[in-house]
Amino acid sequence: MENANIVIREATADDAEEMISYLNIVGGESDNLMHGANGFKMVPVEAVKRRIQASHDADNSVILIALAGEKIIARAELDGCPGSRLHHNAKFSISVRKDYWNKKIGTRLMTEIIERARKMNIMNIELEVIADNKAAIALYHKMGFSDVGVIKNYWFANNAYSDAIVMQKCLDE
Ligand SMILES: CC(C)(COP(=O)(O)OP(=O)(O)OC[C@H]1O[C@@H](n2cnc3c(N)ncnc32)[C@H](O)[C@@H]1OP(=O)(O)O)[C@@H](O)C(=O)NCCC(=O)NCCS
Repeated sequence: MENANIVIREATADDAEEMISYLNIVGGESDNLMHGANGFKMVPVEAVKRRIQASHDADNSVILIALAGEKIIARAELDGCPGSRLHHNAKFSISVRKDYWNKKIGTRLMTEIIERARKMNIMNIELEVIADNKAAIALYHKMGFSDVGVIKNYWFANNAYSDAIVMQKCLDE
């Protein structure tokens, strides 16, 4: 499906069931997500509904989804930090279904998330990326993220530890 037919919008609690299906599939399509295939099989729909609603209600968080028809094919999240002294910081995460990689859906999601972050007065967006995840690193650098450090042995997949690069985008510049 062409990128133009992909609709991007904020997730609502009604998307919880489809979100779980999406996460169960996308987790098996790369080694770069926190959960592998079917990693959300045991997660109750109600818990995901609450998570989506909490993100919607927070003034420093948002979950965006990209849809091809009724199907979620990508997801991006800005997870605002709790506490008044950290409120202007948020963590970013993203995934796209493998069939849709390299069609600029990640770019579209990040562009909208950064726009929304600015409107929410977020000053720092932070993320961690596994050091060999070339596509994600290319995307993050293109979107203006800078490397700020390395966490040794952050990731464990396929019986091996990998380092993570910590990146930051400052929105007050
Ligand atoms: C990383 C990911 C979100 C990118 O999404 P996407 O929709 O394919 O992203 P885009 O098409 O907008 O951009 C991808 C960029 O990476 C580049 N790229 C792709 N593969 C690459 C590679 N092997 N080496 C270098 N650059 C690469 C593309 O050329 C493109 O850059 P460009 O826009 O300057 O041409 C997607 O691949 C994904 O979901 N991967 C699995 C989960 C994951 O890794 N999530 C991030 C965890 S930190």
